[in-house]
Amino acid sequence: MQKKKCLIVTGGGDCPGLNAVIRAVVHRAEQESDWEIWGSYDAFNGLLEDEMRLVKLDKRKVAGIHFLGGTIIGTTNKGGPFNWPVLNEKGNWVTEDRSDLMLQRLQELNIEAVINIGGDGSQAISQQLFEKGVQIIGVPKTIDNDLSATDMTFGYQTAVETATQAVDKLVTTAASHHRIFILEVMGRNAGWIALNAAIAGGAEVCLIPEIPYNIDSIVKSLKPRSDGKRSFANIVIAEGARPVGGKVSGYNPQQPGYANFHLSGAGHRLAWELEQEGVKAEVRVSVLGHLQRGGIPIAFDRVLATSFGVKAFEMVLAEEWGKMVAYKFPDYVSVPIKDAIAEYNYVDADASLIHTARGVGISLGE
Ligand code: F6P
Repeated sequence: MQKKKCLIVTGGGDCPGLNAVIRAVVHRAEQESDWEIWGSYDAFNGLLEDEMRLVKLDKRKVAGIHFLGGTIIGTTNKGGPFNWPVLNEKGNWVTEDRSDLMLQRLQELNIEAVINIGGDGSQAISQQLFEKGVQIIGVPKTIDNDLSATDMTFGYQTAVETATQAVDKLVTTAASHHRIFILEVMGRNAGWIALNAAIAGGAEVCLIPEIPYNIDSIVKSLKPRSDGKRSFANIVIAEGARPVGGKVSGYNPQQPGYANFHLSGAGHRLAWELEQEGVKAEVRVSVLGHLQRGGIPIAFDRVLATSFGVKAFEMVLAEEWGKMVAYKFPDYVSVPIKDAIAEYNYVDADASLIHTARGVGISLGE
């Protein structure tokens, strides 16, 4: 008997826990005698390239991957079925819609279901594919935790852990040298990683994308920590933070199919601003960058990712097409993908974590 095929795709930036989801889907599917799991390499590229790159996944292939960072089937945050980058006759990069080719190939390969593991951009693609008739299930992924439909995304707590360890390490060098240390962490639109790491690490200042900062207010809050001989301070800033009336720091990379603005420089800009304002203490900057996306997922994220994988395959069995798995403590539920991508999970000015930060005297640069 020919088995039904389900294709797994990991898209967008990688994140600790992706492999645990893949493994869980495979393990759950092998409990059903009539299903087999396939993977497409580098998001949908494996299905869309002239020569397809797909792999059959079984228990042997996914053995021991639950604690590995990255994704065994690769990923990309460039292009996609609706924006496939191609070079035109003039030598310029343009994009073309390859979604019809994708549908045709899914049909030829007898792939009945697709599980798309990815963040907001990837889930927007899932919704478009669903509207074209693809039987698709979404699994949310992002270290930024900026998807509103789920209480949490896997990889986020691991990133918070990595960022907190960095604050802890910088505190000792800041104290020894009587310096102000600025740690720049990820967080394009949402400051969850910065806020958690600042509270957990006991930082003095935390700057997030949701609250544009006022440099005078930061200087004032640092005064008691930056004038004396034995003073020091720690600042955590999200990459998407910006001064009041200013823009985010970064540039537009010239990479075909890459849609994101490349955020970089928020921490160094702040260091320069502090110097301009006459802050006496020496200022140093550390940029944590992609260290937050790599490495071993902490136990919480492995459990969340594994639960997402099991639930996602059960949604395939229940034919809940066009839906995304979500964590609503203490349950794993399904929500329409279109609702999941409609609203972001920003740090609210009234969020209880903001209250906590203020309560321990962290300056938010207001
Ligand atoms: O979406 C998660 C994220 O980590 C953002 O915080 C960051 O701006 C972006 O990915 C960077 O992605 P990349 O360098 O892989 O393009």
